[in-house]
Amino acid sequence: MQDPFFTRTILRWYAEEGRDLPWRRTRDPYAVWLSEIILQQTRIAQGTAYWERFMQRFPDVFSLAAADEDAVLRLWEGLGYYSRARNLLAAARQIAALGSFPDTLEGIRALKGVGDYTAAAIGSIAFGIDAAVVDGNVYRVLSRYFGIETPVGSAAAKKEFTQLAQSLLPKGQAADFNQGMMDFGAMQCTPAAPSCSDCPLSSSCQAFRLGQVDRFPLKKSAPAVRTRYFSYIYVRCQGMTAFRRRPSGDIWEGLWEPLFFEHGSEQDRGQFPDWVDAGALTVLKKEVRHVLTHQVIWADFYVWTVSGRVDLPADYQWVRESERDQYGKPKLVMKLLSAL
Ligand code: ADE
Repeated sequence: MQDPFFTRTILRWYAEEGRDLPWRRTRDPYAVWLSEIILQQTRIAQGTAYWERFMQRFPDVFSLAAADEDAVLRLWEGLGYYSRARNLLAAARQIAALGSFPDTLEGIRALKGVGDYTAAAIGSIAFGIDAAVVDGNVYRVLSRYFGIETPVGSAAAKKEFTQLAQSLLPKGQAADFNQGMMDFGAMQCTPAAPSCSDCPLSSSCQAFRLGQVDRFPLKKSAPAVRTRYFSYIYVRCQGMTAFRRRPSGDIWEGLWEPLFFEHGSEQDRGQFPDWVDAGALTVLKKEVRHVLTHQVIWADFYVWTVSGRVDLPADYQWVRESERDQYGKPKLVMKLLSAL
């Protein structure tokens, strides 16, 4: 979708309000790349000082490529996430080996530590490549202005917003448009308390028209919490007990547990197959609530003392009770066993 008013307004706003940042006074791809890598990690206010220190110490990609890792890590100190600093050095060495900074989107994207966003930022700012950046700012500005209800955070949303941003980008002015979107999102169309009263886009902003600026961008609703009903039966037989390893495809894969049953509903709790001698079970604990990220488990815990081996499903094995601690168990099982 093209929207000449939107595009024109972003460009004009950027010319008047855009931030004066040191790396915007150059088109040196090395300087631009360095700024983008630093800004992956921190805000403009802190990032500027780091950028200046890096530029002073390593004025070009060859001096950085020749640096030793410790020197780079020391300059990076305070920014955190040190793998970014290591990637920075690795990318500098990639570029030095190429002989010059790659000047295509694919070439830039192939550098260590450079994803879609950073490649589009460097490509547009340093080389004028018509590639739209898409980040949190862009999601916010576009979802509000166009009233897009696609929840962000999915691959489908990324595709939709990338296509839209790309269609709005004025050919030959990608650097200004992209940085205009970044600054507009950071300064005008902010996440909380955006400045709608003096916004040049408000007259055709869908979220503003609806009075729902705060509702955009939509986020994927948290997955529903699932309630499950478990029973564990601690089978005791002459110093031995039955454990199995939990199978794949569910929580606690590979951890060990006593005889396990899952009940389809609350009504089915306490229902066991015929081979379980229900009359011989003693209740140790009932309705223990155990909360996981997307599940709430209600668990009952029984003890079943048998005098001879019972036939258990094939995935159970008999282990010595005294060696119980050697088996990795889920927290819930630990909780239940401690009640023994
Ligand atoms: N955030 C990441 N890159 C940026 C840039 N070039 N200008 C402003 N904010 C940014």
